[in-house]
Amino acid sequence: MLVCDCMGLDFDEIKEAVREHGDDIEAIQDATDAGTICGCCAEGECEKVDITLQEAIKRALEELE
Ligand code: FES
Repeated sequence: MLVCDCMGLDFDEIKEAVREHGDDIEAIQDATDAGTICGCCAEGECEKVDITLQEAIKRALEELE
């Protein structure tokens, strides 16, 4: 499940960052560079990815509970 096309990040990589940083989106972006190139995946909608960064963080938090 692709979360950031520019950086080639999949959900598992975001989940790892969430495990470390919780819902701190800035820390997750610092750790992964997600959303730092075109910015699309960090917006509410992005056609280039399966799930946006915000959605991925939310889902990861639910799965990690
Ligand atoms: S798709 Fe994530 S920065 Fe472009």
